Amino acid sequence: LLKVREPALNQLLEYAQRTNKPTGSATTTSGNPIVEKDASLTAGPRGVILFQNYDMVDELAHFDRERIPERVVHAKGAGAFGYFVVTNDITQYTAASVFSAINKRTSIAIRFSAVAGEMGYADSVRDVRGFAIKFYTEDGIWDLVGNNTPLFFVKDPVNFMSFIHVLKRNPVTHLRDPEQFWDYLTLRPESLHQTMIVYTDRGIPDGYRHMHGYGADTFSLLNDQGVLVYCKFHHFTDQGIKNLDPQDAIRIAGEDPDYFTRDLYNSIAAGNYPSWRMFIQVMTQKQALESPFDPFDVSKIWPHADYPLIPVGKFELTRNPDNYFADIEQLAFDPAHLIPGIEPSSDRFIQGRLFAYGDTQRYRLGTNYNQIPVNNNVRVRNFSRDGKFTLHSQNGAPIYHPNSFGGPEPDPRAKALSPEFPIVGNAVRYDNGNDDPYSQPRVLWVRVLDQGEKERMVENIVLGNGLMALRDASDFIQNRAIVNFTNVHPDFGRMVRDKLSAQLQFTAQL
Ligand code: HEM
Repeated sequence: LLKVREPALNQLLEYAQRTNKPTGSATTTSGNPIVEKDASLTAGPRGVILFQNYDMVDELAHFDRERIPERVVHAKGAGAFGYFVVTNDITQYTAASVFSAINKRTSIAIRFSAVAGEMGYADSVRDVRGFAIKFYTEDGIWDLVGNNTPLFFVKDPVNFMSFIHVLKRNPVTHLRDPEQFWDYLTLRPESLHQTMIVYTDRGIPDGYRHMHGYGADTFSLLNDQGVLVYCKFHHFTDQGIKNLDPQDAIRIAGEDPDYFTRDLYNSIAAGNYPSWRMFIQVMTQKQALESPFDPFDVSKIWPHADYPLIPVGKFELTRNPDNYFADIEQLAFDPAHLIPGIEPSSDRFIQGRLFAYGDTQRYRLGTNYNQIPVNNNVRVRNFSRDGKFTLHSQNGAPIYHPNSFGGPEPDPRAKALSPEFPIVGNAVRYDNGNDDPYSQPRVLWVRVLDQGEKERMVENIVLGNGLMALRDASDFIQNRAIVNFTNVHPDFGRMVRDKLSAQLQFTAQL
C-alpha cells in the first residue's frame, strides 16, 4: 500500500511502521495518565458530566487555544528544510560567514506562500508568491524574505498597507473587490511593472518548486576591507519554470486547494529534492550615484546587461516539517535578522520592513518568538530575560551592561564590519511614485514578452483569470488603466481597450 499511494497519504502508515509498537499510555498535557479517552465521566450512563473530568477539560481548553493570529499577509503557505552550499567565491564582496568558503554548508528553512488569501485559500490562484529563506548561520539567523518576482508594486512603506488593503477583502462586503484594487493600482502607476508580471503566465506557477525567488530589496554587502557594494539576490529553480494554464488552475482550486503544498511535501518525501541556484547582482557606490534610475527603488529591476548575475551557491530542500504548526506556522521571518557582512541599504522598503516583521511576530507569536526552536539555533547572549514562554536562563549571566562579572560583550568582528556611510539631503516628504514608472514595463512589453504572452497577459488583465478582472471595475477606472497601459506602449493600451469592448459586446449579447 505504501508504494502505490502518494507520500502525503502515507504519513500515518509510516508512523505505524516506524514505531512498530503502540505509543504507550495517553496523558494529559501535564503528563498524567488518563483513564478513558472515548467517554466522559458522568453521573451514571445518562447523567451530567462531572467537573472532575479533568482530562476532558484539559483537552477542551487546549483546543480552544489551538489557533494563533494568521499572518496578516502570506497566510497560506508551505515550508521545508535543507541546506545552502557555496559554489562560488564572493568574499571580494562580502565577509558574511555564510559565504566564507566554497563547499561551506549552512542549514536553511524555506517557507513559500501566496500573498493575498487567508490560511485556507486555494494554492492555485493568481498571485505573487512568497519565497522566504532562513539561514541558521554561526552568526545567528539571516532571513532573506523575498518573493517570486524581482520587484514590488509600491516602494514606500507608507503605501504598503493601502496596497495590501486593496488586494484583500472590502471591509463592508467582505469580498475581494476589483473596484478598489484597480482604482488604487491605476492611481499609483509605479505598480505597473509588477501588475503586468502578475497577469503574465508566471502569475500562476505550477507549484512552488517551479518558480524563481528574488530578495527584491536592495541590500549592502561589506567585505573584510570594509568596502561596501549594493546587492540584489536571485534564486533560479533547477526544476525549470512551469506555469498553470488559468483554466486548469481554476479547476485545481476546486479539486485540490492544497495542490502546491501537496506537491512540495510529496516531492521531498519521495526523495525528489527541489533545488535552486543563488546569484547576486552587484552595484558599486559610484555606479549607484551615476545610475539613471534609483537603485534603491524596489519597483525597479537592475538590468542584467548592466549588472550581470554572479553565481554564489545552491540550496536544496531535503526534509519535510515534523509538524506544520511547530515548524512552519511558528517560523518567524524578519528582514532585520542580518549577519555581519550583509546590511540594509537606503531602499525605503527594506527600511520599513526592518520594523514591521519583528513587530508582527511579537503580536503573532509573542515576545520570546526567537526562543521557539525553529527560529534559532545559536546560543543567545543578551540583556533581555523573562516574558511569556521564556525558555532560556542564559546560565545566570548578568542582565545589565557594563558589568564586572564577565557578561557578554559586543562582537569586535561585527563592529569592524559595521559600515560608516554618509547620510545626505534635507528632510523632505518626497513621493517617488512618479519616478519613471513606464520605461521598465515598456522593456517588458517590447523585448521580453512574445506575442502569445502579450495576448494572454491582456486577456488575464481584462478577465481576471484567477485574480481581479479589470472588466469588473467602473468605466472611469478602466479608462485610467488604458491611459497607463498606453503610456507603457500604445499597442498595450489598444489591446486592453479592444478586449474590454469585446467583453462589453459579448455581455450585451447575453
Ligand atoms: C510577510 C510586512 C514588503 C515578502 C509579511 C508579514 C508582514 C509583512 C507584516 C507577516 C509576517 C508574519 O506574520 O510572519 C511587509 C511590509 C512591507 C513588506 C510592511 C513593505 C514595507 C515585502 C516585500 C517582499 C515581502 C517587498 C518580497 C520581496 C514577504 C514574505 C512574507 C511576508 C515572503 C511571508 C514570510 C513567511 O513565509 O512567513 N510581510 N512586507 N514583503 N512578506 Fe512582507
